[in-house]
Amino acid sequence: MDPAQIRQNNRKVYDSMAAAKSPLCRPATDEELASPLRTVDGSGWLGSSIAGKHVLCLAAGGGRQSSLYAAAGAIVTVVDISGAMLELDRQVAAERGFHFRLIENSMESLPMLQDGEFDIVIHPVSTCYIPNVAPVFSEVARVTRPGGIYISQHKQPVSLQASLDPNERGRYEIENTYYRTDPIPCTDSKSRNAQRLREKGAIEFVHRWEQLIGGICRSGFMIEDLSEPMHAKLEARRGSFADRANHIAPYVRIKARRRAKHSASTHSPNSIWLPNS
Ligand SMILES: C[S@@+](CC[C@H](N)C(=O)[O-])C[C@H]1O[C@@H](n2cnc3c(N)ncnc32)[C@H](O)[C@@H]1O
Repeated sequence: MDPAQIRQNNRKVYDSMAAAKSPLCRPATDEELASPLRTVDGSGWLGSSIAGKHVLCLAAGGGRQSSLYAAAGAIVTVVDISGAMLELDRQVAAERGFHFRLIENSMESLPMLQDGEFDIVIHPVSTCYIPNVAPVFSEVARVTRPGGIYISQHKQPVSLQASLDPNERGRYEIENTYYRTDPIPCTDSKSRNAQRLREKGAIEFVHRWEQLIGGICRSGFMIEDLSEPMHAKLEARRGSFADRANHIAPYVRIKARRRAKHSASTHSPNSIWLPNS
């Protein structure tokens, strides 16, 4: 599939989601903005203050991330492919008196950003929207200063592989192969899980652990921590979002630090054995 078509499709999806005021496109509340670091960084990965730090919010339009990092005192740049999502950042900036640099662009090529420009890169769930994650990590590594922090969140591969709704035995089935390079099929399910786990109409790809964790390491970062945001509830109703999360953790959050010196790894993900699938 043509990468430009994928980008255009996913841009339209998020433009529509922004127009429909989807939950992913809602700005931060007054309460969240009152303690912004606690809201964005419950695990304390960013330390006690980010005041004066240069923060890149990558694929993070919508007015939420930008305003929370600005409220914490950071100098914020937002890159997003969706003009409508960036418009929400513009509105929040006008309402709250923040100033953001807003860039409408795809995440895998960031020529408008300088080498080592950022102390912190924040990258919410979005790698699922691009076929190849390696160029994204390589660009993030380029724009992060040595010692800088890269925090990214991803849909877990198995969550993208598995059925959204349970079968008659209450189990979730693996429907998509792990090694597929084609997008996963769009779902026509109208269930709550479908709404929460897949963005309707979006073209999404499964990325293997080797491509996510290995890719971040190979691009010049050391991974310092990793968490799986908790959405499971033991007594969840069968088929609910929390029930699926009891079986399959939906997301992973990774903290990585830019190495001071980096010689590119010679390992190529294409050199691994691929079964016929
Ligand atoms: C799950 S949302 C993250 C932002 C959300 N508002 C938040 O607060 O976490 C995913 C974002 O990725 C953006 N996106 C999708 N494909 C992209 C691409 N190729 N390059 C840059 N941004 C992209 C979407 O427009 C959307 O704003």
